[in-house]
Amino acid sequence: MAGVSGCIKYSMFIFNFLFWLCGILILAIAIWIRVSKDDHEIISSGDSGTNSYVAVNILIAVGAIIMILGFLGCCGAMKESRCMLLLFFIGLLLILLLQVAAGILGAAFKSESDRILNETLYENVKLLSATDDNGKAFQKVLAEFQEEFKCCGLVSGAADWGNNFQQNYKSCECSKVPDSSCTSYDGKYVYKQPCISFIKDLVAKHIIIVIGIAFGLAVVEILGLVFSMVLYCQIGNK
Ligand SMILES: *[C@@H]1O[C@H](CO)[C@@H](O)[C@H](O)[C@H]1NC(C)=O
Repeated sequence: MAGVSGCIKYSMFIFNFLFWLCGILILAIAIWIRVSKDDHEIISSGDSGTNSYVAVNILIAVGAIIMILGFLGCCGAMKESRCMLLLFFIGLLLILLLQVAAGILGAAFKSESDRILNETLYENVKLLSATDDNGKAFQKVLAEFQEEFKCCGLVSGAADWGNNFQQNYKSCECSKVPDSSCTSYDGKYVYKQPCISFIKDLVAKHIIIVIGIAFGLAVVEILGLVFSMVLYCQIGNK
């Protein structure tokens, strides 16, 4: 019988060694963020902390999974261990299936998620005229957004700022005085266009990037599945 193909064996080894290193790197960075966060948390305990905790925990899980799979693939190929290659294959297959399921769910609920985004943005208008911490945090983010995209307010322009307009008009203010994209509001010359369409565009762009990455990843995963299966069969035939 034909033996084990050196080409497949060493590509498996090299690629999975790289994955293993990536996994370790992700894990190290995530744990480092987590540890340095703990110091911050004492000073600024707040709502925003919980969200970033979830993100870091996801990063730790992803790093650990990549590290384990990389290790299985790398060692499985080098030691020609059918058991490790099978575990690698099953793990990778599960990830691919999850990814496909998430893709199908995302596509099926696209109009639903558009609606949720729209409603969330409409809800957030209230935050612009609020004076609590949540409101202040959102106002700071929107002010930066307004400056960057030359828009003002969220859904109906400067009026969204309510009583907070006078303290926050700077990021809405037009620099050129006679300009068709600007309007007078409450004694200030500000951008006419509300920011909602820019925010929706930005979200859509990021979703395209995520889809692109997911497809690229799926191609790599399928290659990994094929290589590990071929190697698995070749070891069996030896
Ligand atoms: C977004 O939501 C608001 C209020 O719920 C609604 O009036 C508006 O028509 C919606 N826009 C889109 C594009 O769905």
